[in-house]
Amino acid sequence: MPVGVLDSGIGGLSVLQDIQKRLPREHLIFLADQANLPYGPRSLTEVQLFTEGITRFFLSQGVKLVVLACNTASAAALYYLRSKFPDVPFVGMEPAIKPAARDTKSGVIGVIATAATFQGQLYASLLDRFAHDIKVVTRPCPELVTLAERGNPWTETDIQNVREMLSPIIRARADQLVLGCTHFSFLKPVLQAAMTENVTIIDPAPAVARQVERVLTEKHLLADKNQAGKTIYYTSGSADHLRQQMNGLLGELQRDVRELRWQNGKLVV
Ligand code: DGL
Repeated sequence: MPVGVLDSGIGGLSVLQDIQKRLPREHLIFLADQANLPYGPRSLTEVQLFTEGITRFFLSQGVKLVVLACNTASAAALYYLRSKFPDVPFVGMEPAIKPAARDTKSGVIGVIATAATFQGQLYASLLDRFAHDIKVVTRPCPELVTLAERGNPWTETDIQNVREMLSPIIRARADQLVLGCTHFSFLKPVLQAAMTENVTIIDPAPAVARQVERVLTEKHLLADKNQAGKTIYYTSGSADHLRQQMNGLLGELQRDVRELRWQNGKLVV
């Protein structure tokens, strides 16, 4: 049985890569809902309906666990999906405020994500729990989602624009930058170039892969020791486009990329 991994676009591939490394025996289904990209500016209800439709598609493919490789989807829909599908294990993501608050020396951390992620209950409760004695500078960056989807090569102008976007975080002397959106993992070189060298970028993808392993182990759902895992890639947009994006971000490889279409709230082949 495969593990399903979803995002609005290519961001989830950063999480998928870590799952592939950590759990090479697992079969994986990756789904980029590029027909509905971006999720960031959408209402909670819309994101809930999209992720519900994707979960139903995953279940039709025999998926044993669903990973929301998207902070926006997790903020908008994790609780909703868990109550809608009580028998399905879901792994979601949240901005890594906890390690950033633990490791900061300047007492200031920066968090970048989509507007929807900052609005959710999940984010408020993170600040409540872990950010009492530090300053948190929050910055919604929808433009970075577009930049990550466009892909490299990154230009000097991109770096300047990103520096401008992050200026409230830079000015406040944050020494930790929390990536609260999976798309931003692919922008690490640009983000690092835009900030000073002594800023640590915190990417939650490895922690999510560890959590997937923990849940599969607990539920006795880990794949057979003798199999090599395969990944099928789906997009609700164009398969050619996703293939090109993956070649640019992850290197040229033969990949099984397929198209799905939304039809009356359902994903069909
Ligand atoms: N990759 C998504 C996230 O982690 C959202 C990007 C978007 O669709 O706005 O939040």
